[in-house]
Amino acid sequence: MNQNTLTRRYFLQKTSMATSALFGLSVLQPRRAHALGSFVRKDVGKLSASDTTLTSYAAAVAAMRQLDTTDPTNPLGWQYQAAIHGTKSPSITAEEQATWNACEHYTVFFLSWHRMYLYYFERIIRKMSGDANWALPFWNYQSTSERTLPSAFWTPADASNPLYIFDRNPGWNDGSASLWDSAVSTAMPFGDIDFGSFYYQLEYNMHDTVHTAVGGLMGYHLTAAQDPIFFLHHSNVDRLWNSWLTLKNGRQDPFSDASWTTAPFTFFDENKKQVTITGCEILRAQDQLGYVYEGEPAQVKEYCLNRRIRVPYYAYIPWYEVWPGPIELPAVFETKTIEVNTQPLRAHLRNSPLARMKAGSSVVLKLSQVEADHQPNIYYEVYLGIPKGETPKFESPFYVGNLALFGGGIRDIDEQMKSHERRLPKTAQGDRLLSFTYKITGALQAATKAAGSLKDLDVAFVPRGALLKGRPDERHPTATIKIGRAEIGLQRLE
Ligand code: C2O
Repeated sequence: MNQNTLTRRYFLQKTSMATSALFGLSVLQPRRAHALGSFVRKDVGKLSASDTTLTSYAAAVAAMRQLDTTDPTNPLGWQYQAAIHGTKSPSITAEEQATWNACEHYTVFFLSWHRMYLYYFERIIRKMSGDANWALPFWNYQSTSERTLPSAFWTPADASNPLYIFDRNPGWNDGSASLWDSAVSTAMPFGDIDFGSFYYQLEYNMHDTVHTAVGGLMGYHLTAAQDPIFFLHHSNVDRLWNSWLTLKNGRQDPFSDASWTTAPFTFFDENKKQVTITGCEILRAQDQLGYVYEGEPAQVKEYCLNRRIRVPYYAYIPWYEVWPGPIELPAVFETKTIEVNTQPLRAHLRNSPLARMKAGSSVVLKLSQVEADHQPNIYYEVYLGIPKGETPKFESPFYVGNLALFGGGIRDIDEQMKSHERRLPKTAQGDRLLSFTYKITGALQAATKAAGSLKDLDVAFVPRGALLKGRPDERHPTATIKIGRAEIGLQRLE
């Protein structure tokens, strides 16, 4: 797909979004009739190798790969389905142009788009496997017993197993690699009340790290959905979205934001029919899409509001640049520590004292223009203000989140740059590369308490990839990460 088509498609999509927002919900066709079942998406770790959930999945993947060769423009083909998420191949037919490279990352549609994608994918697997009761399982890596790749995906580790993919980082295909606690912790996203902050933390701090750790096809958004484990990873992310809502206390989806609820997204159903679906139609997984997750509490029922309400948004007020010029996290497995100039910070904090921060406001560390030439295949835990000599622990108040490259910022594929171009909002500063925002109010408070003042402050990037046989896998990252700019500022819900 050339740049023109991309831009044009993006424009068309934006236009249709605006149009439907203008006319309210009435322009949308009545919901397609489909038989709702109550499908249970099961925890893959509890399934035996002979469970039909796994055998039917494998059979469907094999059948879909057949279509790749016998009928390459068939939307039920494996590569075709993966291309809806992302692909390096040029899209040729009108259908391909309308549906490929559509994954939503760094946007408020991250959760809703992937829910839609999984929903149609699940229906397709049901059809292609001939297993009418099939439901997509989830990779429950929140459980400490499920930190390795589910065994059906590497047993046997050869081409006779449709769920096996050669192209994964070392250790995943023999059961020796596992995920660190910090890669899968939900403490930060679940602590967030605001949807924007929640999806952001879930995407950046947890979802991206799993992609990075497993690596190979999973390490790039343009290839990730070619690995059958992708769908179990996202099934779990989708489950966590439900779980977050059940924590209540003001947690809710943006169901009063017409730009979120009415934006149409295009997929194919199991009959190869092109379909569009909106945020309003996927709010209640059980009622609207017919599935629940094994072991989940009763789903929260939300309904779209058919009127416009002002939706709060995050305003970011930059305070100062933390260190001059770009820094690099070189391709060696080492902690990188950088000293923060705290003088301007102390001056700002006299006006906005930490103790009087309002809910929804936080001092933030913003790393921008982040990029690497390749997928580094590791991620970093980011800390602020660890007292000298203390070992970094992600449960400590000094931990502010992770740095993992997945949906963008990786330069080694031309097409990747194009979709990068298309996906990343251009800021006033023309900043089109990846940026990461870490809330640091808690870390600053802890650092002040530990040291008695805020004079010396370090940011530490601690490398993490996977564990190999329970010990840190200290292989060097496969790329240097460049961080163009680091600022401290204030983030405020307005
Ligand atoms: Cu759109 Cu986990 O990827």
